Amino acid sequence: MTPGIEVELAGLRLRNPLILASGIMGNTASALVRVYRAGAGALTTKTVTKEPVEGYRNPVVVELPFGLLNAMGLPNPGVDYFLEELRAVKREVPEAPLIVSVGGNSPDEVADVASVVDVGEAVEINASCPHVSGHGVEIGSTPELIGELVRKVRESTSKPLFVKLTPMTHDIRSLGEAAVEAGADVLVAINTIRAMVIDVEAMKPVLSNKFGGLSGPAIRPVAVRAVYELSDLAPVVGVGGVETWRDALEMIMAGATAVGIGTAVYKKGLNVFEEISQGIIKYLESRGLTLKEVVGAAKS
Ligand code: FUM
Repeated sequence: MTPGIEVELAGLRLRNPLILASGIMGNTASALVRVYRAGAGALTTKTVTKEPVEGYRNPVVVELPFGLLNAMGLPNPGVDYFLEELRAVKREVPEAPLIVSVGGNSPDEVADVASVVDVGEAVEINASCPHVSGHGVEIGSTPELIGELVRKVRESTSKPLFVKLTPMTHDIRSLGEAAVEAGADVLVAINTIRAMVIDVEAMKPVLSNKFGGLSGPAIRPVAVRAVYELSDLAPVVGVGGVETWRDALEMIMAGATAVGIGTAVYKKGLNVFEEISQGIIKYLESRGLTLKEVVGAAKS
């Protein structure tokens, strides 16, 4: 019998453990619908803020041999407009679990955004964008900051609360503990790592913002380590450089309940969801295992 790979995550039922990570194809209804139809188990939107944000000027993305460096500047149309877009997703694929990523430049502002999110099955706090002033790591990189942020947002929504953590800390476990204590249901690890590349002809940083967030295979071992350290605190979504079924299983064996796919969509196209799902099924089948038996297997 073909092993099932459905998972349950904070009350959300996913047909497979592969979640579209925030930031990739998550800002229009048509793109989100395409990703679900291509085989994702759940969808995370691009981070939305209270007011519209234009984002940085080009260049905002650099392709590297080992991943991507991006600094878009959290461009989005603002929460009111964005919710209309998300209603269109729900009309097209009502069964798709939708996780709405929310951001802001203070705990109150993030809570305000979360409080009006009436579409989707869960809210994800972006507590980890590494390069937008006043946002992300600036309000989520210490246990005290993340505790205050999650507490405020927890009071503003009854939806399951996912919290996306930064790896830019000496102790991600204490960030996870503070988030869970303040009401997080799911930890998402990791966001990108603040980084820079320089154009030696122009003698200046390539990105218009100078700094960006590094994603892709280069950060996968960092993400696997973070998942390993966090996964006894709460269910974890492992994100960072997953491109193949082996990479996904690595995250799952480190303790992840589900796996975020981001940069690989950019690199390999939408087929990546189906390819990874089939690879996981074949692996389980060949070993006579269930997915549950593999979660955290590397920890015992
Ligand atoms: O530039 C961006 O929009 C990135 C956001 C993030 O890393 O969270």
